[in-house]
Amino acid sequence: MQYICKQCKKTYTKWVGKCDNCGAWNSLEEIESNLNYNYRKIQKDIKYTNTQTIIKKLSQISETKDSLTIELYTNISEIDNLVGGKFIAGQYILLAGSPGIGKSTLCLQILNSFYLQNKKILYLAGEESLIQIKNRIDRLGIKIDDVDFVETRDVYQLINILEQNVYDVFFVDSIQTLYSPNINSVPGSVSQVCECANLIMEIIKAKNILTFIIGHITKSGDIAGPMYLEHMVDTILLFEGDRKSEARYLKVIKNRFGPTDELGIFRMTNKGLVSIKNTLDLIDSSSFDIKSPGIVFVMTAEGNRPIPLEVQALASRTFFSNPRRTASNFDINRLYIILALLEKKMHIAINEYDIFINIVGGIKYDDPGIDLGVLMSIYSSLKDFVVSRNKIFFGEVGLSGEIKKVYIEDKRIKESNLLGFTEFFCSQTHKTVEKLIKDVFNRS
Ligand code: TYD
Ligand code: MG
Repeated sequence: MQYICKQCKKTYTKWVGKCDNCGAWNSLEEIESNLNYNYRKIQKDIKYTNTQTIIKKLSQISETKDSLTIELYTNISEIDNLVGGKFIAGQYILLAGSPGIGKSTLCLQILNSFYLQNKKILYLAGEESLIQIKNRIDRLGIKIDDVDFVETRDVYQLINILEQNVYDVFFVDSIQTLYSPNINSVPGSVSQVCECANLIMEIIKAKNILTFIIGHITKSGDIAGPMYLEHMVDTILLFEGDRKSEARYLKVIKNRFGPTDELGIFRMTNKGLVSIKNTLDLIDSSSFDIKSPGIVFVMTAEGNRPIPLEVQALASRTFFSNPRRTASNFDINRLYIILALLEKKMHIAINEYDIFINIVGGIKYDDPGIDLGVLMSIYSSLKDFVVSRNKIFFGEVGLSGEIKKVYIEDKRIKESNLLGFTEFFCSQTHKTVEKLIKDVFNRS
């Protein structure tokens, strides 16, 4: 019997609690002995060639522009821009996201776009029945009569279809539903996902088919299945958002053929996903009208794109000896630092208050530039003082209360102006939080 680490694929002959290669705990899974058998068989079959012909010096390597590279465009600018303007034939893409976020919807919209360009398309419906898919297509208001849909779980059946037909684009919804009869574990398990993804890769690379595979995300935010899958694919697109709100973000996590710091922003409507051009649409317009303390706007950034966000704070007198601190979509440890700073620099008895923080919109940003806005919103709630809605904040707050420059600061300033925020506060306007608080709250 053999075991494999789900994270790094190291194999073991006996079970251990912690992988000594990648350090992951409880990540070992049993793999089937016929895998070993196959592996031994392959090893036996290897023909040793003259290795001197495959070893190269840098001087022997030159860039050959492959005239056979076929470029494919979705013509959905939000998506094409994301991947550097184009997809290419044979590109292997993993579209990951939590259940219900809109992955299938996005794929059908991309599918429709390719269909309108007369591309030959195959769609594997593993998650839903074909009738459910048909209903969804009707709901999206798209007409796609000449697309091949297949409902199977057997990866070899799928490979056969791909072998016997010609396709330009292929969608797998989802990789977790496929299984290979050669492996004795359930669909979705690490060895099945590895095997199926590998088999698919071989054929789509050989036949130059642009392929999107949908993969789920676990509760903790990781892509379900093996790390190995992430190494295998050319591109990883992560689809995020809060199911309760309409905003959806498509991020490029990895891209062998283009940039990785672009972001696509969409809204989920009853007619599918619609690109958002004006990022102000991300903020609930009623927030501009409510004149209550604790609400502050920040200009965060994802990749190269500035995004306005609403931060809400509530500071109320506590009834507990251990006051409560809650942060949604914000790192609780950063909240502790901000509170310690308020205590030290502004002489507030912070322990007398319960503090609640919410970054509205449902996704967790790890941009430290939000800190300044969080600090201002807490202060605003503590002092019961409204920060006027024409103000916007972005800055990282240092441990001694200094305001640090954030990345793409100039771009954030420009975007703030464009969106109509007439006063911005950042490292260019203020050096310390004390001075900033004084300026904002003495004349707000
Ligand atoms: P879906 O694409 O099925 O998500 P995933 O494949 O990631 O699990 O869509 C999820 C939700 O989107 C579903 O609850 C219904 C909603 N939805 C819309 O709001 N508008 C639409 O046009 C469609 C097709 C779905
Ligand atoms: Mg789906």
